[in-house]
Amino acid sequence: MENNNVILQVRGLRKTYGSGENEVRALDGVDLDICEGQLFVILGSSGSGKSTLLNMIGGMDAPSSGSILFRGKEIGRFKDRELTDYRKRCIGFVFQSFNLIGELTVKENVELTANTRKDPHIADSMLELMGLSEKKKKYPSQLSGGQQQRVAIARALAGDADILLCDEPTGALDFETGKQILKQLERLSREYHKTVVIVTHTREIAQMGDRVINMKDGRIVSSYENEDPVPAERIDW
Ligand SMILES: Nc1ncnc2c1ncn2[C@@H]1O[C@H](COP(=O)(O)OP(=O)(O)OP(=O)(O)O)[C@@H](O)[C@H]1O
Ligand SMILES: [Mg+2]
Repeated sequence: MENNNVILQVRGLRKTYGSGENEVRALDGVDLDICEGQLFVILGSSGSGKSTLLNMIGGMDAPSSGSILFRGKEIGRFKDRELTDYRKRCIGFVFQSFNLIGELTVKENVELTANTRKDPHIADSMLELMGLSEKKKKYPSQLSGGQQQRVAIARALAGDADILLCDEPTGALDFETGKQILKQLERLSREYHKTVVIVTHTREIAQMGDRVINMKDGRIVSSYENEDPVPAERIDW
């Protein structure tokens, strides 16, 4: 890939938890480039450092050392205000457990991140994009798992995020529902040219990525570019 469309650059990223005997090297020197519009997959077994990496990229947690550059700017140097803006405007986060607010309706959940100044109808548009227009006034507890995950994606998108970070987006879902979610994420990348990062421990799911990195013990042990990514429709796991 050409370097000029790199949206995110990670260099020498380390994260250590605890100290002495309890020290855990969650990230042990990670380098990667994510290009604009790419469907980027982070594959690795439990404890390999995937969520830690995603949280650092999302500006939710600070690394012990190393740097993360978003469009060439180091996020570690951002002032509080810039970091808040980065989290809110540049990054959309989709969690394994949906993280919806139970007391708010579907639409209110999506409006939490909505950039209404830019587009007052953004929440409605994103819910429509996710096929949820009929569920707007419902509460999360009235929806299926897959529907809740789609609300979470709509919410992540409503802030007009440049990068969508998805931590095990199918983890809490059955196969068919999980597949629907992957198809939505694929569509966001292919049709809407969003940069989508998917964390998974499932090798088959990784095949849909344009670029796949494989993590082990806080390091990238392999990385490959997929000339011919497998459509989500054809993936079985
Ligand atoms: N807050 C924390 N304090 C101490 N250790 C932590 C903390 N968060 C993560 N770790 C450790 O860092 C390592 C990487 O954790 P991480 O959550 O990034 O793994 P993961 O690849 O996301 O795993 P999973 O697939 O189970 O979600 C693990 O050994 C974990 O125990
Ligand atoms: Mg994790």
